[in-house]
Amino acid sequence: MKYTLFILGIITGSMLIISCSSDPEQATGGTGSAEVSEAKLDSLINLMTLDEKLDLIHASSSFTSGGVPRLDIPELVFSDGPHGVRHEHGRGWYALEDADDEATYLPVGICLASTWNKDLGYDYGEVLGNEAKERGKNVLLGPGINIIRSPLNGRNFEYLSEDPFLTGVMGVGYVKGLQAQGVAACPKHYTANNQETDRHNIDALISKRALHEIYLPAFKAVVQDGGAWSIMGAYNKVNGQYTTHHEYLNSTVLKGDWEFDGVVVSDWASVKNTREALLYGTDIEMGTELLRDFNNPVYEEFYLANPAKEMIENGDVDESFVDDKVKRVLRLMYRTTALTDHGPGKRNVTEHQQKALEVAREGIVLLKNDGLLPLEKSEIKTLAVIGHNANRLFAGRGGSSQVNAFYEITPLEGIRNLVGDDVEVVFAEGYEPYYDESLFRGEGGDAASQSRENREDVELARTANEDLIQEAVALAEEADAVIFVGGWIHGHEGMPWGQGTYDAEARDKLNLKLIFGQEELIRQINSVNDRTAVVLMGGSNVEMENWLPDTPAYLHAWYPGMEGGTAIAEILFGEVNPSGKLPMTFANSHEDYPSHSIGEFPGDGTVDYAEDIYVGYRYFDTQNKDVFFPFGFGLTYTTFEFSDLQVSKQDDKVMVEATVTNTGDREGAEVVQIYVHHKDPSVDRPIRELKGFEKVDLEPGASATVNIELDESAFMYYHPEDLKWVLESGSYEIQVGNSSRDIKMREEVIW
Ligand code: BGC
Repeated sequence: MKYTLFILGIITGSMLIISCSSDPEQATGGTGSAEVSEAKLDSLINLMTLDEKLDLIHASSSFTSGGVPRLDIPELVFSDGPHGVRHEHGRGWYALEDADDEATYLPVGICLASTWNKDLGYDYGEVLGNEAKERGKNVLLGPGINIIRSPLNGRNFEYLSEDPFLTGVMGVGYVKGLQAQGVAACPKHYTANNQETDRHNIDALISKRALHEIYLPAFKAVVQDGGAWSIMGAYNKVNGQYTTHHEYLNSTVLKGDWEFDGVVVSDWASVKNTREALLYGTDIEMGTELLRDFNNPVYEEFYLANPAKEMIENGDVDESFVDDKVKRVLRLMYRTTALTDHGPGKRNVTEHQQKALEVAREGIVLLKNDGLLPLEKSEIKTLAVIGHNANRLFAGRGGSSQVNAFYEITPLEGIRNLVGDDVEVVFAEGYEPYYDESLFRGEGGDAASQSRENREDVELARTANEDLIQEAVALAEEADAVIFVGGWIHGHEGMPWGQGTYDAEARDKLNLKLIFGQEELIRQINSVNDRTAVVLMGGSNVEMENWLPDTPAYLHAWYPGMEGGTAIAEILFGEVNPSGKLPMTFANSHEDYPSHSIGEFPGDGTVDYAEDIYVGYRYFDTQNKDVFFPFGFGLTYTTFEFSDLQVSKQDDKVMVEATVTNTGDREGAEVVQIYVHHKDPSVDRPIRELKGFEKVDLEPGASATVNIELDESAFMYYHPEDLKWVLESGSYEIQVGNSSRDIKMREEVIW
């Protein structure tokens, strides 16, 4: 979609009308690469031996799948994203020393979603596509679009939202921007990879309704609206079958109903069964499970290598299943830069760093402000910056999403750069990531970290350092203002991925309690200085009840990328007006979330999604439960007014028009959020569901009229017994607001 601005006239200042129109170039990925004909693909396949075909559908090194040199068909080259092109592995399984692999480190996925800015989704993908292309990659493993079901999931930082619509819209932008550079997106992990604990084995028990209403829509959007050329299967099972070769998810839904003609790539070592992989849609097997020796890998042992050959030669499975996979792989090669030259790409250029900065500026969320912010430089002689995270680098950790950042500006640096010599900035670490190595069990790494026992280790690394607290409090007492920067971290120095980590692959958090004694530290700082702004990093919230009431300002910064420190400083000092909105509900404790209070997390062998469709605000709002900060919420330094809601229906479309006015005295951006509610449904339905949004940037006094078109699908639900989408007649309420709990205007429409 492309957004066209029409200047209409002056109301209060100026007035913009924003409407959406489809852009055919972006819809096809915009590479200009012609779609290859079926006949061409068939003729190529006819030239291949079975061995050559099989080479194309399994790994040939850690991040390549095989080619056919005899026919000039190259290997496909993969790289992790999702927020930067990962460091080089070469053909091996360990990072290459001295590789030329520094890259742009973008803010993480959840920060991108917090921008609610569709154009930034596209730009983000475009940066990644250019950098991937420059490094010779054909497939970038992103975006991460699993739904945030529990705040404890260690990979929430890579994902986008608890809401399928927001996830889908931002994911579609990402996919289009990326693929426009000739690099395939690989949205992951399909599907319901909503926890890391026991991720290789856990069986997620989910109703068809919850699958279709919550866990599948974003995947459907990236396939159908984004045109994704590949998709990554997940490790887990869904309702008894491994997702990477799941008959219903792959054959019936993805390749059947959605007509996906791209490639299903396994997650690394997620194939578990040759027959199922052949029959149920796995197109390329990547990964390590069958590699007994990392230093001497035998790729012929992969499920889709010799074992597959045996099955086909025995006549157990027809070769046409392999041909279909090969055809998809070849199609992807034509679509990407693998077979044709789409230009050189770009890496570490200023415009990419600028994009990282823009996403951080718009994605960081101001959650509380009792008038402390923005800070006024001229009123501060001494500023105390406190907290280990103020001075910590994040790019290189967190699991497969790690990036060798070209540079990374920490909050401390960002603040120092902004205030210059005018303000004396003093720093104290305040707390330290503490762990007692003897408490960490197991070998670490992925396999060991899957066990429930190892999860307990995280709990053991919680000790506060009293000396550091005293040093910090002494600085806070003398300062004119304090900026505390804390929150979660990806992992401890020197520890394997899975150990002692919080926001990281292969790990879930145990609870939302602030780690390393930070809660005590914040309380003590607040008691000596009532001008303290708290900035937290992390892929989720933390428990807030014990420190937030006495804290005058709180900014949630996620992991804001290589320019994150700059953006944090700009927001704190008012050079940028915050406009981020939460893509997930911030309740106090993990136990408040329906995945814990109604369903199970992390389960034991199986995990029951008993909360069904009531994920995130669908639950909190419908049940009217208290939360600290609702879905869609975020403060600004100006004020906005909503007015003139008009809802009209034409044939099978509903047009929603609303005006938003900047009534404050500084420029700012607001997100107009459109929720739909069926007033008298015959089945249980949430009190509201997000179905449209638009972010508008307005000068003081200016107004914009937002036009959003809702089609039938915005009003449908998935019938739990009939197992199909249904549009029920009746009266629907269109709710317009700037968070799920701040609905400012309502209007009815009848279907
Ligand atoms: C992760 C994927 C990642 C892959 C390759 C897996 O362990 O789950 O997200 O893309 O490794 O690094």
